[in-house]
Amino acid sequence: MELSEYLRRIPKVSLHCHLEGSVQAATVVELARKHGEALPGGRTVENLYDYPDILEFLKVYTMVAGLMRDHDDFHRAAYETLQEAREHGVRYREMFWSPMAHMGAGVPYATAADGLVAGIRDAETDMGIQCRLIADIDRMQEPEAGLEMLDQVLEHRRPELIGLGLDYAEAGNPPEKHWKAFARAARAGLHRTAHSCEDAPARNVETCLDLLGCERIDHGYHVLEDDSLVRRCAGEGVLFTCAPVSTAWVYFGNDLANHPIKTMVKEGLKIMLDCDDPPMFGTNPSNDYAVAVEHMGLGPEEVRETVMNAIDGCWLDDTSKRRMRRDWGREIDALTVQLDASPG
Ligand code: ADE
Ligand code: ZN
Repeated sequence: MELSEYLRRIPKVSLHCHLEGSVQAATVVELARKHGEALPGGRTVENLYDYPDILEFLKVYTMVAGLMRDHDDFHRAAYETLQEAREHGVRYREMFWSPMAHMGAGVPYATAADGLVAGIRDAETDMGIQCRLIADIDRMQEPEAGLEMLDQVLEHRRPELIGLGLDYAEAGNPPEKHWKAFARAARAGLHRTAHSCEDAPARNVETCLDLLGCERIDHGYHVLEDDSLVRRCAGEGVLFTCAPVSTAWVYFGNDLANHPIKTMVKEGLKIMLDCDDPPMFGTNPSNDYAVAVEHMGLGPEEVRETVMNAIDGCWLDDTSKRRMRRDWGREIDALTVQLDASPG
């Protein structure tokens, strides 16, 4: 079996993928046409997903979010990304979404959430893929706006919505800015995670763990600048949800061979791999594994471990996780035998 086919078939848990960053360019074109709008920012379909840095990326991301307006748009976006995920071996996903981008465009929270939930339920019925949602705070906005979003999440609580996250540009927007929302989410029984050390000093990881009560860290690359924090995270088994392709693009000069993930693995940190905003960075849920194998020295053993790390760090119950570890472990071993047996 070819390596790419092997990596596509490996069963996966996805913990770092954004709904709005998963909308294919062709779908954006259709949404724009449906709503009688030009493509965001006067772009064409050829250069829609092209940006030099995180801030320009976030502008496009927000504009794409602004084209999702009714129940069907949200249903479609959720269903399509889960369809692609399933084709790349994802069986369970905890997916970020950005309610504040939709609320800012005048879409009621409940319209968006109900469309997503319907798409998720249909995807599970049709394809057997399970998905849960994490509502992300846009950290560039004021703390009061994050709290207002959380009010909506809690007022229109849906069983699929299980966590609170934090994203958008980290530099200048440290995690403590939104500590009140995280404290309230904890009291309301939501899980918590945050984008951290994507583009800011190591102490942000400490703040996320100790002040925000995060159960895992999204990205986390600059943790490597603090040896004692690295030792703490390794010792406590903190899971880092890493995205090689998107972050190489906007932060690390497209230098995959020198991406910090390689050192994180060497330092004994627990990582999993995911695709962040797949079409927006020209990737997909198995390509980020392929990149890690090709450029970061991961072999089948590390791929297996990465999948097991994602199972450990997801928010399913312990019985389900035990079953997944056992059954998927056997499946992965059988696939690896086929990989080893193939010529070359
Ligand atoms: N929103 C979507 N993708 C993101 C990323 N990589 N960093 C911050 N915010 C995001
Ligand atoms: Zn992300």
